[in-house]
Amino acid sequence: MKLIHTLFKRNLLIFLFLISLIGFSSVSVSKHNAVVVTRHHLATEVGSKILLDGGNAFDAAISVAFALAVVNPSAGNIGGGGFALLYDANKKTIESIDYRERAPIRARENMFLDENGNVVNGLSTSSFLASGIPGTVDGMFKIHKKYGSLPIKKLISPAIDLAEKGFILSKFQAEYFNSNRDKFSKNPETKKVFVKENLWKKGDLFFQEDLAKTLKRISKFGRDEFYSGETAKKIINYFQKNGGIFTKKDFMSYQSSFKSSLCSTFFDFKVCSMSLPSSGGIVLSQALNILENFNLTSYEHNSLEYNRLLTEAMRFSFADRSEFLGDGDFNNFDISRITSKKYAKSLSTIIKNSESKILINTPGEYLNESEETTHFSIIDSKGNAVSNTYTLNTAYGSGIVAKGTGILMNNEMDDFSIKPGFPNFFGLVGSEANKVESKKAPLSSMTPTIVFHEGKPYLITGSPGGSTIISTVLQLLLNILIFDMELDEASKAKRIHHQWKPDILFIEKDKKIKNINRIGFDTVYRERIGESHSILFNKENYEGFADLRRPDGRAISVR
Ligand code: GLY
Repeated sequence: MKLIHTLFKRNLLIFLFLISLIGFSSVSVSKHNAVVVTRHHLATEVGSKILLDGGNAFDAAISVAFALAVVNPSAGNIGGGGFALLYDANKKTIESIDYRERAPIRARENMFLDENGNVVNGLSTSSFLASGIPGTVDGMFKIHKKYGSLPIKKLISPAIDLAEKGFILSKFQAEYFNSNRDKFSKNPETKKVFVKENLWKKGDLFFQEDLAKTLKRISKFGRDEFYSGETAKKIINYFQKNGGIFTKKDFMSYQSSFKSSLCSTFFDFKVCSMSLPSSGGIVLSQALNILENFNLTSYEHNSLEYNRLLTEAMRFSFADRSEFLGDGDFNNFDISRITSKKYAKSLSTIIKNSESKILINTPGEYLNESEETTHFSIIDSKGNAVSNTYTLNTAYGSGIVAKGTGILMNNEMDDFSIKPGFPNFFGLVGSEANKVESKKAPLSSMTPTIVFHEGKPYLITGSPGGSTIISTVLQLLLNILIFDMELDEASKAKRIHHQWKPDILFIEKDKKIKNINRIGFDTVYRERIGESHSILFNKENYEGFADLRRPDGRAISVR
C-alpha cells in the first residue's frame, strides 16, 4: 500500500512537472516580446511606455496616434483621417476601422472648377475648401471603446505633455519646417505656430500651446468635444469666416466605422489590408495575384526581368484603380471582379505573351515632392496587432491651422477626382467613381497591412507616399515572402513605382537596380519611394524596423 502510495505520489509529481513544462512552453511560444515602430522616436517611446504600463496594442496605438499629431505634424494628426487594421489575438479576428475624412455636406462635383470647367489651381490643396471632415478623433475613441484597456485620459496625456512642455526638434524637422515656411506664412494662425523669424534649428524646443489646450479638452470631454464642443465651434467658425463650407451638421454627423478587412492568399500567407474607401488593399491584392502566376523565385531581385514583371503587375492594377474605384458607399462596383485569382490569371497571360519593350529611356529629374502620410505598426506580448496609416494628405495638409485650436487641417479633398482625367497631387487620375459628392470619402491609397502565417501575425507594415504607398508595401512583402530577406534588408532595398498614368517608371536611383532603362518606359528618378515601418516575426520573437529613408523613426521592443 505504501509502495502504491509512493508510486502515486511520484507519478503525481512527474505529472505536475510535465504539465508545468507544457504550460511553460506554451507560454514561451505565445508570449513573445512587444514591438512599436513609428516614424518619430518620441511617439515610439510613448507607445512602448503604454505597453509597459499594462496597456494592449490598441491602447498603445491610440496613444501613438495622439502623440504623432504633436511630434510629427506634417502627417500625424487630429485634423485628418486614416485607416487601421486591428487584430485581436484572443478572438483571432481581424477587422479594419475607416476613419477617413468625409466631404462636407455642401460639397459639389464641380466645386474645384471655374465657370469654364477648368481646375482652379490650389483650391483642392491649400484653401478653406480643401479639407474633409476629420476622422482621427472619432476613430481613436471607437478603437478605445471596443478594444482599449487603459483609461483614454492616460492615452492622451503623453500628447498633451509633448505639446505643452515642448519637444526638441531634430535637424530633419527643423529643416522641414523651414522649407515649408512659405506655405505656413500664407495663414496667420499657421505662421504663429510653425514659422520662426530666424529659422528653426536642431535642438530648438517646439511648443504648441493651443494644441495642448485642445487635447486637454478632448481628454476631459471625450470625442464629442471635437465634433460638437468648443473645438468643433472654433473650426467651423473659422472656416465659415474664410469662405469654407463646414457646418455644425458636418461635424455632428461624422462617424468612423468598423469594416471587414480585405484578406486574400499569397502562396501560403494570408494578406489582410484595407478595402474601400482605400484602394490600397485592392491594388495590392490584384498585383500579388498576378505575380503568383510567375515562378518568382527564379528571378534575381531587382533584375531587369523582375522589375519589368513588377512594373506590369503595378500598371494593370493601378489602371483598374483609376477606372473603377471610389467610395464603396457611393458605387456598386464589385471589387471581387478585380481581386479574383481568375482575373489575375488572365492578366498574367497577357503579360507573359507581351513582347518586352526595349531601350526608350528619357532620363528624368529627381522628384522632391513631399509625399506625406505616416504609418505605425504595433504588436503586444499577447499577439494583438495594429497596423495604422493616417494622414493630412500632403505635408502639413492644407497648411491651415484652425484659429485657436492648434489643429492643422487636411487637404484630403484633393484625393477626389476633381475633374475626370485631371491628375491630383500624386498624378493619379480617376473616373466618375471617385468624383466629389456630399459626405463621400475620397479614394485613398493607404495600405495598412498584416500578413499572417500559420494563423499568427507574421508581418505588420505600411507606408506613407501617396500612390507609392501601395508599391512600397508590395515590394516589402515580396522582399520578405519571396526573396527571404531580413526585415532591414527588405526595407532598405531600392524600390520602383508605376501607377499606369503617367506612363512613367519611377525609380530610386541605385546601381543595384539593373538596366532599368531597358524595360522600355520613360524613367524618372525619385529621391525616395515610401517609408515602411514594419514588424516581422523572426523565429520566436518580433523585430521592428523603422525605414531609414528619412531620419527620426524608431522601433522599440519591450518584454
Ligand atoms: N492622401 C493620401 C492617400 O490617402 O492615399
